[in-house]
Amino acid sequence: MRGVPPFYVTTPIYYVNDVPHIGHAYTTVTADALARWHRLNGDDTFFLTGTDEHGLKVLRAAEANDCSPQEWADRTSARFREAWDLLGIAYDDFIRTTEGRHEHAVQALLQRIYDNGHIYKSTYSGLYCVPCEAYYAPTDLVGDEMCPVHDRPVEHLEEENWFFRLSAFAEPLLAWYEAQSGAVTPVGKRNEALGIIRQGLADISISRTSIDWGVPVPWDPSQVFYVWYDALINYATAIGYGTDRQRFDAWWPHVHHLIGKDILRFHCVYWPAMLLAAGEEPPANIHVHGYLLVGGAKMSKTALNQIFPADLVETFGVDGFRYQFLRDQSFGPDGDFSFEGMVTRYNTDLANNLGNLLSRVATVVNKACGGVGPAPHPESPLADVAARVLAEASRHWESVAPSQALEATWSLVREANAYLEANEPWKMPPGAELDAVLGDALEVLRIVAILATPAIPTTCAEIWRRIGLTGTPGDEPLPASAAWGRYPGGLTVVKGDPLFPRLSVES
Ligand code: MSP
Repeated sequence: MRGVPPFYVTTPIYYVNDVPHIGHAYTTVTADALARWHRLNGDDTFFLTGTDEHGLKVLRAAEANDCSPQEWADRTSARFREAWDLLGIAYDDFIRTTEGRHEHAVQALLQRIYDNGHIYKSTYSGLYCVPCEAYYAPTDLVGDEMCPVHDRPVEHLEEENWFFRLSAFAEPLLAWYEAQSGAVTPVGKRNEALGIIRQGLADISISRTSIDWGVPVPWDPSQVFYVWYDALINYATAIGYGTDRQRFDAWWPHVHHLIGKDILRFHCVYWPAMLLAAGEEPPANIHVHGYLLVGGAKMSKTALNQIFPADLVETFGVDGFRYQFLRDQSFGPDGDFSFEGMVTRYNTDLANNLGNLLSRVATVVNKACGGVGPAPHPESPLADVAARVLAEASRHWESVAPSQALEATWSLVREANAYLEANEPWKMPPGAELDAVLGDALEVLRIVAILATPAIPTTCAEIWRRIGLTGTPGDEPLPASAAWGRYPGGLTVVKGDPLFPRLSVES
């Protein structure tokens, strides 16, 4: 333990009207890599993902598929689990909003807000977008009453609902933003949230009478909670809200919510306000990312531009997939995905840089050292590079910048390849000088196998094995595990197949 707060990381819970595509995978792989990084550091880590199963959108998807909403939710939620299993996502908990534990926590938290006097009854009439599960003010709409996100007509809904007194929380929210200036990142997104709050907050309807696919309002069972007020609470349910106060207090508010920019208002305004209304602290960290675009457009069912994880895993393998989404797009801005770009990134970083480093070293060790890897030189020129890279990669992982963390890690791989090219061990006679060069390269491989584990865990475990080490790269905590000089030498180095066979765009 580093004496730092426990690390609790969440993805949004995904709607079960749709099956998982690479936009969902992007957030989930990022959360998984962050969790793995913190586990490598010996931090207490809890990684939560799951599915959002109530609301009109899911009800309509079930109707369209001729089954009950529960059957539909069961089927689609399983698809998310399968996708995450395929991608090696090591979540600690997968929450489904139709579970009893969640219903219990939703009712407990909203009852608390009701008891605190922040919920009242009134009539609501408004323009509603079903895909967003959100009401819009007429001024937010585009063209002829079209939803600004989905570019499709909104619907007129009118009902008697329970309202949350959001307007009373503008000042407390502004005070919280002031006190916790780093809570929402990047800063542009923090400013966007502040802009929404400063514009003035209207009270919001948090229940529905028109459907019964939801969590019943405990003090008025003729209504169910609006899907967003049910969904946001999943983050509290999973750590024991309403059942295990001690557990909840151990994790909350040290959470890191990863969210897409389309759900900023819910996470950066409504959720902190609900928590304040319930007498809890708002979430300590909300990291907002942009869209993964395909051909310049956001992926969606209706745009017919969805790409599914399994399609890419078939070509690039699981680690090739994970590496692409962590390395290619900076966490924050939008980024365009292209198959050609993915092939180039895979060939350059994985096949050529990392794959070649291992295969070159293993080849020479087998030819010139009888397959036994030598120890590194304590004063190798690569020792300083490794120390700098460890510091940089740590800083970037800590600030939720996987792309930069991996760039730093790969700079060590490139330096090691350049070192081999400068020394040409394949031309050197056996002896102490050759041993030092090979030992240094093996030590770089050992350190990279640790630092790259969050991104490419299976490959790193394989490198570990091939350079003769036992256990796994995460057996000892960072930073000590990555200190220069820990590769003991005298271990059997295995040559094996290429880690990442080269690809061509045609293949
Ligand atoms: N169910 C709500 C979230 C509730 S969290 C309490 C929801 N679900 S969603 O499935 O529609 O979207 C989940 C996340 O996936 C959002 O953060 C959204 O931004 C993200 N993405 C969906 N498509 C995406 C891309 N093309 N690119 C990046 N992320 C995208 O909203």
